[in-house]
Amino acid sequence: MSYQGLTKENGKVDFVKGLEKFPGSKLLGAALVAPLAQYEKVYALPMLTIKDDKGTGVVTSVPSDSPDDFAALSDLKKKKPLREKYGITDEMVLPFEPVPIIEIEGLGNLAAVEMCTRLKIQSQNEKDKLEEAKKEVYLKGFYDGVMLIGKYAGQKTADVKKVIQQDLIAEGLAEKYVEPEKKVISRSGDECVVALCDQWYLNYGDPEWKKDAHRALQQCETYCEESKRGLEYTIDWLHEHACSRSYGLGTKLPWDPKYLIESLSDSTIYNCYYTVAHFLQQGSLDGHVVGPAGITHDQLTDDVWDYIFLEANYDNTKMPVAKDTLDKLKKEFNFWYPIDMRVSGKDLVGNHLTYLLFIHTAIWKDKPERWPRSLRANGHLLLNNEKMSKSTGNFMTLTEAIETFSADGMRFSLADAGDGVDDANFLSAIAEAGLLRLYTFITWVEELLVMKKENALRTGEFNFTDRVFDSEMKKLINDCKKAYEGTNYKDALKLGFYDYQNTLTMYREMCGGLDSNLHEQLVFRFLETQALILSPICPHVTEQIWKLIGKEGFIVNALWPSGTDDVDVVLLKQGEFIRETVWTFRQELKKYMFPKKRDPLPQPTEGLIWIAKEYPMWQKIVLQNLETLAKENNGQFPDNSVIAKTLGKEEALKKFSKKTMPFVVVVKEEFARKGMAALKVACEYDQVEILNINKEYLLNSLDLDYIIMKFTDEPDTPQALQDTIVPGRPHITFSAGKPGLPLTLRNVHLCNGLFDVELEVIDGDTLSAIVRKLRRINKNVKPKHIVTLWRYKDPMAGGRRNISCEDPLAPNVKLNDDAVFKVDIELKKITVDGHEVGQTLVYVAESNE
Ligand SMILES: *[C@@H]1O[C@H](CO)[C@@H](O)[C@H](O)[C@H]1NC(C)=O
Ligand SMILES: *[C@@H]1O[C@H](CO)[C@@H](O)[C@H](O)[C@H]1NC(C)=O
Repeated sequence: MSYQGLTKENGKVDFVKGLEKFPGSKLLGAALVAPLAQYEKVYALPMLTIKDDKGTGVVTSVPSDSPDDFAALSDLKKKKPLREKYGITDEMVLPFEPVPIIEIEGLGNLAAVEMCTRLKIQSQNEKDKLEEAKKEVYLKGFYDGVMLIGKYAGQKTADVKKVIQQDLIAEGLAEKYVEPEKKVISRSGDECVVALCDQWYLNYGDPEWKKDAHRALQQCETYCEESKRGLEYTIDWLHEHACSRSYGLGTKLPWDPKYLIESLSDSTIYNCYYTVAHFLQQGSLDGHVVGPAGITHDQLTDDVWDYIFLEANYDNTKMPVAKDTLDKLKKEFNFWYPIDMRVSGKDLVGNHLTYLLFIHTAIWKDKPERWPRSLRANGHLLLNNEKMSKSTGNFMTLTEAIETFSADGMRFSLADAGDGVDDANFLSAIAEAGLLRLYTFITWVEELLVMKKENALRTGEFNFTDRVFDSEMKKLINDCKKAYEGTNYKDALKLGFYDYQNTLTMYREMCGGLDSNLHEQLVFRFLETQALILSPICPHVTEQIWKLIGKEGFIVNALWPSGTDDVDVVLLKQGEFIRETVWTFRQELKKYMFPKKRDPLPQPTEGLIWIAKEYPMWQKIVLQNLETLAKENNGQFPDNSVIAKTLGKEEALKKFSKKTMPFVVVVKEEFARKGMAALKVACEYDQVEILNINKEYLLNSLDLDYIIMKFTDEPDTPQALQDTIVPGRPHITFSAGKPGLPLTLRNVHLCNGLFDVELEVIDGDTLSAIVRKLRRINKNVKPKHIVTLWRYKDPMAGGRRNISCEDPLAPNVKLNDDAVFKVDIELKKITVDGHEVGQTLVYVAESNE
């Protein structure tokens, strides 16, 4: 108290003569008048949990709203021996009941009593439960409480708290005394107290100034909500803030030079000094070297700075530097200011970054164009999931990181470490893996260059697969740009490298897994754009790629890829549809071939695809309800019980009540992956058309010979399928197909690496079906090859005769393109267009280039 102006002399406690010293226990049982209490007289009672190292140790008891106080009072009432131990008589305790003071919604008007009952608190020693009760009551009481009695009955406690405090002080019933929330120990080991000091303050509490700071924040990008909230909170909360100190490094306070400016208050607009520092310093920090502008430190008067920073008029009587020279500095400042981005640690949101806003608005009061454009706060950097610390050895310098992982490898892992205000995490494993992937990528670029030179890549019209890839590239380029603009480098790396590489992998897979099937134009567009969008993170590797693919100039000078505005959204969905379909079909195939607890089945040849054209009426109703619920619930699904209750109200669903919840489960899974799009009642594209376009890919991915498609609204559809298949998610069933006969396809041309292929012919196979089987089995028959089939004129002799090098096809006849195979299993006979063909056909695969 003596440090807070409550004694005559600062820091000195005077014991007035005649005052008595006595132990606190002597006060027990004393009759007291408590300020604002309803009882005229109360008694000082023992409470075991009270702190006795500050003040008198006597505190006001509020059993109505403080669980601790209520528990202590109850103990005394219940336990006669306890009363006796402290010499407390029954009249001092038993007549006193808690008085309702505050009404709290949900807790009633005796919140402490209510919470103690709810948590079954038996005594004042149940510390944990009491702490929990206290938290609940204080929080709700402060924000939701309404006064029931006294001068301010009917008002919210939060609004009258300060007013009542002022009233008490005004009436002489209280003194203002401040204490730290917790015990504070200084570095020297002393306990700290709150003291009034001789200080200079910046009054951040000034309402006008606060308003400007809020305006400055409003027009400022903060990159993440948490920083914005932190800044907002600090602006609101800040009031007088000490800005001087008596020792340390710093600038002397101009109007009171025995003090220094405290460093956080001083570090707010020094960014503007950067704009002219190169004219003034020339490498020296103490001003003993005169910089290129020829200005000495004593010439840098306040008036000079006013001219450079504040557009003051030139006045040679006050400004000891030539106008020309100052204009040069002013031009620099005008060019660079305002700050585009101020980056700082998240621990400086509550001070430096907020002061920076305040001070900018103070110095450039009516010039919002001089206020910072963006502030970015970042977290700390972990190394391999742990805090960096020299003492534990978990430590790495930038130089070490570059030597270990190369500059690009390190930058790769740094970008991946994370942005925002959460702590970032640098992982060595990511740097190593990244480096390896980049190296592999360069090797692949070199291979492609060779293929291009040999014209071994595909050219011509784009097909569906190409167009999907093209749109996906564009979309990722755009998304990646947004991530860079938002300074979200982890996202930029994910979108611009991981995802970008994945679309290439998918594209390759959909093109039969062969580089030669890739479209030359697209794959080179991929290389160029991949280099460009990764170059901010990995400038060296991408510069290398840039050179390899023959681009002019340096990639650092190149522009971001253009022409990416026409992303075809429906096409993207179609691409996703086909990929997902193949993915689920592969799972189905595994399940079919390796049934649980039974012997594995051989690879099937036929697939039957079931497609739902649209949702049946009852499912549409469910979807519409789910959409409404999700919208009401912040884009999330509510609990199943809520869903069931809502759906239960739908008259039209009564007949389907058994099916609705299983259907909800199916939709929920979809929703988890696709969000709101999963609740659309119709498909935006023709599923059959897309499946047909991609039939080849489907057949190859599943190693099937035939695919048949059926709609679920056809009458013979099993009920279970009707109920579970939804538009956009077809289902497949497999079967071994009809039995067939073996047939050998033979290549009779020399030196082209194509050999005999054994396959099975089924009754009704067309020539193109056989060719497909051939291509599937023999991957050396490339898409660029046109395949023709030839039968032997003498099917019995077949290939058992000499082959002429000049005319190897002399003993053969070419089959028509529309030829159909007839297979007689019993007689083991294969005929084509009325001709028996024996067991061997000749195939010719000619490149169309
Ligand atoms: C596009 O062409 C490639 C290469 O021939 C092929 O692998 C792919 O299946 C084609 N896509 C479609 C949908 O036809
Ligand atoms: C096949 O070629 C060999 C060697 O040239 C020859 O001796 C033989 O007569 C030929 N056979 C037929 C059936 O032409």
